[in-house]
Amino acid sequence: MIPGPTELPPPVIQALNRPAAIQYDDSFDLGMLEPTMLALRDVFQTRNEVLLMPGSGRTALEAGATSVIEPGDRVLVVGAGQFGALMRDIMNRVGAAWTEFNVELGQPLDLKALAAEAERLRPKAITLVHNETSTGTTYPAAQVGEIARRVGALFMLDTVSAIAGIDVRTDEWGVDLNMTGSQKCLAAPLGLALVSVSARAWEVMERRTQPARSWSYDLLRWREHWIPESRGGKVKDGAPRRQPVSIPTHLTAAMQVAVRLILEEGLRQRFRRHEVAASALRAGVQAMGLELFPDASLWSNTVSCIVAPKNVEPPAVVTRMRDQYGILIGTGLDKIRTTTLRIGTMGITASPLYVMPTLSALELTLRDLGYKSEPGAGLTAAQRVFADA
Ligand SMILES: Cc1ncc(COP(=O)(O)O)c(C=O)c1O
Repeated sequence: MIPGPTELPPPVIQALNRPAAIQYDDSFDLGMLEPTMLALRDVFQTRNEVLLMPGSGRTALEAGATSVIEPGDRVLVVGAGQFGALMRDIMNRVGAAWTEFNVELGQPLDLKALAAEAERLRPKAITLVHNETSTGTTYPAAQVGEIARRVGALFMLDTVSAIAGIDVRTDEWGVDLNMTGSQKCLAAPLGLALVSVSARAWEVMERRTQPARSWSYDLLRWREHWIPESRGGKVKDGAPRRQPVSIPTHLTAAMQVAVRLILEEGLRQRFRRHEVAASALRAGVQAMGLELFPDASLWSNTVSCIVAPKNVEPPAVVTRMRDQYGILIGTGLDKIRTTTLRIGTMGITASPLYVMPTLSALELTLRDLGYKSEPGAGLTAAQRVFADA
């Protein structure tokens, strides 16, 4: 029940059990990779290309940043937690002249102030973490996208802990680079980075004065070697193409099944399932007398950040709960590592099957550590939410 990597659905696990494939053979390239990339467009709610590359969420963020930002470019980074800070560090590496727009941990983003800062700076890009996994908060990506559009900036969105769990409308919100990883709500194995790229982002890459410094993760090279002309790329339709780096065949097989499961369930139903599971979890922990860390307007449906009771150490909760009750949750991160706990409701764990035992184990663990609540109160509250859903 940590906020990723999350449990894998059995059909996804089974997809990994296959002989090695040759990554450049048509049976893989056209038979598996292509349909997976195309189906991912529906998950991303985009008509743009979704690139699938070896790596993780950070690879996707770095590929995006490396490809569109040149040294000295102004970038406005919204920082509302550990993963906003990560984006700032990546921007630092690519030589951006970044400015951080700081948001107090767990608190709302002042959109008016952000808009004013964007007007003042006129940055080349604005970055946002849609779902800040470190604080259990979801930020208003649509509105930040509007601000970016108004000042002519690219909108770079980290959706690592959002995609396929909460609504991410890539095209409707004007997301130019939607960057994510495979191991959270997509419920695929860790090891793939995913990036969708808008027409505006391709234009910015084409206008670079110097090529990107990375060979493997220069997205423009992916476009030149890999994407057919009919989809905005440079490869003649039907002509052989080259994988910009060798694509991991097993992980793609698993991703193909993960995407099929997501689309069979339907995005609306999937988002609703995450919403119900997270609401039940929150109701449960509150009924135990615990508080959620963030402001209620920002509560995330994929990760809940809970204030640990006084005199109870979060690492002790995690260890006891794992060793005694067999359920793994996370501590907080960074500045709130020693005061908070985090529980994921992602992919298949967004269900009563996982949430109910977690609440039961949490109650017993806290009791073992000296924090007493009304026995079963958390379970009753959560059950009510599931029953009413
Ligand atoms: C919001 C967010 N961004 C970026 C990352 C980094 O992703 P990865 O660990 O896949 O490199 C994470 C990981 O938890 C995350 O939650």
